[in-house]
Amino acid sequence: MQTSSHKKKLVIGNWKMNGSSVANASLLRSLLPVISRFESVETAICPPFPYLTTVADLLDDSDVSLGAQNLSTHLSGAHTGEVSASMLQDIGCRYVLVGHSERRALYAEDDELVAKKFATALRAGLIPVLCVGETLAQRQGGETEAVVTQQLSAVLKAVGIQDLVKSVIAYEPVWAIGTGETATPEQAQAVHRHIREWLAEQDRPAATDCRILYGGSVKAENAKQLFDQPDIDGGLIGGASLDAMSFAAICWAAQTAPAAEPIAI
Ligand code: PGA
Repeated sequence: MQTSSHKKKLVIGNWKMNGSSVANASLLRSLLPVISRFESVETAICPPFPYLTTVADLLDDSDVSLGAQNLSTHLSGAHTGEVSASMLQDIGCRYVLVGHSERRALYAEDDELVAKKFATALRAGLIPVLCVGETLAQRQGGETEAVVTQQLSAVLKAVGIQDLVKSVIAYEPVWAIGTGETATPEQAQAVHRHIREWLAEQDRPAATDCRILYGGSVKAENAKQLFDQPDIDGGLIGGASLDAMSFAAICWAAQTAPAAEPIAI
């Protein structure tokens, strides 16, 4: 069945603070010829800031989009060490991650700052990838849905539902990031379903269109089962995106998963 491009599955590689000029070129030399044959999946790569322009050049003849891992809330000026949304847009970024749990936990980014980054990205024409997710203690305390709703609500309050659903949402349970421990497909689907229902309460058609990715120790071995879930529209991949064949296998799992057709809300 033909799907409209915005409901193709989306797989984004988040390289985090890894790579070098030589390693990046070698990774992309192996990866691009393989994933360029996968026409039913959209892909993107988020390298560290210093490599964005060289990776942009390497991606030039491919359909793989470029994304950044962070941005400033400021537009320009005296903000030493910061990178603005318009700079990212200028060098060809399509996506930017906002609210990644590492930034929330290690760099004290709270919901208000995340919402500001989200709004700043949108205004510059970038697509924010809004990361949400609970810690292990929060899951064990039965707070998963409340935590995710709170993180989404902060952005909703700042930009409204029409702008929120223009973004990509990534559900990333903190306890599954970089730990090797993945949410089961059922656990992930349940939270994705909750997010979609919450979006539907704000705006029913928008809820169906919005892409909700899963992230947290996605690997070649578990990607297919996750992507087969009706409300999982792709993945945000950390560790496994640093290995060309692992990332290609995950993209292939997305390519061959059933077209995302969320069950009626
Ligand atoms: P991981 O990271 O795949 O290494 O768990 C995911 C992420 O942080 O986006």
